[in-house]
Amino acid sequence: MQRFVSRRVLSETNFLRVQQRCFALPGSAYKKVVTSDTPEPPPVPVIPPFPYTPPTYTGPSGDEIMALRKKYLMQQPAYYEKPLNLVDGKMQYVFDENGKRYLDALAGVSVVSCGHCHPYVEKAIIKQMKSIQHTTVLYLNHTLTDYLQALADKMPGNLKVFYLLNSGTEANELAMLLARLYTGCNDIISLRNAYHGNAPTTMGTNGVRTEKFNVVQTGIHHAMDPNPYRGDFGSDGKKYAEDVQNIIDYATSGQVAGFIAEEIQGVGGVIQLAPGYLPAAYESVRNAGGLCIADEAITGFGRTGSHYWAFENQGVIPDIVTMAKGIGNSSPMSVVATTPEIAQVLGSHTFYSTFAANEISTTAGLAVLKVIEKEGLQENALAVGSYLKAKLTALKDKYEIIGDVRGRGLMLGVEFVTDRELKTPATDLTNVIFEEMKEMGVLVGKAGLYSNVLRMLPPLCITKADADFLADVLDNAIWNITNK
Ligand SMILES: Cc1ncc(COP(=O)(O)O)c(C=O)c1O
Repeated sequence: MQRFVSRRVLSETNFLRVQQRCFALPGSAYKKVVTSDTPEPPPVPVIPPFPYTPPTYTGPSGDEIMALRKKYLMQQPAYYEKPLNLVDGKMQYVFDENGKRYLDALAGVSVVSCGHCHPYVEKAIIKQMKSIQHTTVLYLNHTLTDYLQALADKMPGNLKVFYLLNSGTEANELAMLLARLYTGCNDIISLRNAYHGNAPTTMGTNGVRTEKFNVVQTGIHHAMDPNPYRGDFGSDGKKYAEDVQNIIDYATSGQVAGFIAEEIQGVGGVIQLAPGYLPAAYESVRNAGGLCIADEAITGFGRTGSHYWAFENQGVIPDIVTMAKGIGNSSPMSVVATTPEIAQVLGSHTFYSTFAANEISTTAGLAVLKVIEKEGLQENALAVGSYLKAKLTALKDKYEIIGDVRGRGLMLGVEFVTDRELKTPATDLTNVIFEEMKEMGVLVGKAGLYSNVLRMLPPLCITKADADFLADVLDNAIWNITNK
C-alpha cells in the first residue's frame, strides 16, 4: 500500500504550513517533507462524453452577479473562492457561463434526483403549466389525488395519509406538532449531529452548533450520536440506544412526544446510524408513549439504493415520515406521511399552507415517482453507488489523509483527517481538495461540524463512467496537493 502523506503526526496547522512552504519549493522538496513514497501520478481524468451543448450564454457574468449578491443577499455565501455561475443543466451535468461542463455530484443538495431538466419531468410540468398552475386545496384537481395515490403505494404499513407542504423544515415542524398533539407530551428526542431544518422546533432538534442560534428552544433532548466512525461504541447500535432510554428516565417525566432521526445524517457529514440503533431507540420511545419520526428529506426516493426509504435498512416502520428535497426534482414541495389515526389529531382545525399541493409541484412529484420506477433509478443508485464507494475506499487505502469513506447508494461521504488515529479534522485541506475538484470538473458538497467531509449526492442517473471520472478527479486533487 502506498502512503502519499507522511505517517508523522501533522496537525492541520503544521500540515498547511508545510504545504504553503512547499508550494514555493521545487516539487521534490515537498515530496521529501510529506511523502513516504514516490507514487506514480494518477490517471488524467476525462469527463465522459455527453451529446449536449448548451446555447451560448449571453447573460451577466459571474463577477457581476456576485457584486449584486454581495449588495443584496444576506443568505448563505456562495461556494468556491471564485463562485460558479451555472447557466445550464442536463441530467447529471451543469454548465458554467463559459460552457464548461461539470459533473454535478451535489445536485442542489440532493434536490435534482432524476437529473437536471429531465425530459419526462420537464414535459409533464410544461403541459401542466399550460392548463392550470395553482388552485390550492380549497378546490379539487386530480393532479393532487393522482400523486397521493401513487405515493401511498410506496409507503409501508399504515402510513397511508399525507399532508403537503413546501420544505423539509415545514414537514418536520408538522411531524413534531402531530407527535405532541397525539401524545399530549412536549418532550422530543433528537440526535446530536442531526439537522432537521431552521424553524423554532426543528432548529431545536439540530445537533450541530453551526445550525443553531442562541434562542429559546424548549423540550428537545439530544441523544448520543450513533456514529460508527467517531462514536464511543463503534458500530454497536444497541449500546448507543441506551442513551435514549437514559434521557427518558433522567430528563423527562417518563413520557415523551417523539423521536426524530435521519437514518443517514446528511448535513452532519454522511453518518450512517450504527446498525441496530433504530429498532432499540424506537422501542424505548414507544414504551414511553412517543411517536417515531423518520426524516427522509435526503435519504428518500431510492437514493440510498438498498431501499426506497432509508429507515427500511434498519427494519423499522416509523409512525411519521417526512420527505422533501428530491421529491419534486426541483419543484419546491414536501410531504408528511402518517397513519389515519395519528392524522386525525389536527381534527377540524385549519392546517393550511398557501402554496402547498399546487398543481405544478404535484405534477413534478408524480413524474419523479414514475421516472424512478421506469428508469430503475433506485437500482442504479445501488449499482453505481456501490461501485463509486469501492473506488473511494481504494483511495482511502492509498492516501493517509482519508480517514473514512461511508454512506450507501448515492449518498456518500469522504472524511479527511491529518492523523488517522487522532482523527484530527483536516478542514483547510478538505477545502483545497474541494476547490481542486471543481477546477477539474466535479462539484461536491462539504459537510460535518468541521467541514472536513466531502459529500456526494449526485442525480440518481449518474453512470459508472461518471463514477470513474469522480474518483479520478479526487485522486488527482489529493495527489496534486500532496505532490506539487
Ligand atoms: C435531513 C434534512 N431534513 C430537513 C431539512 C430541511 O429542509 P429545507 O431546507 O427544505 O427546509 C434538510 C435540509 O438540508 C435536511 O438535510
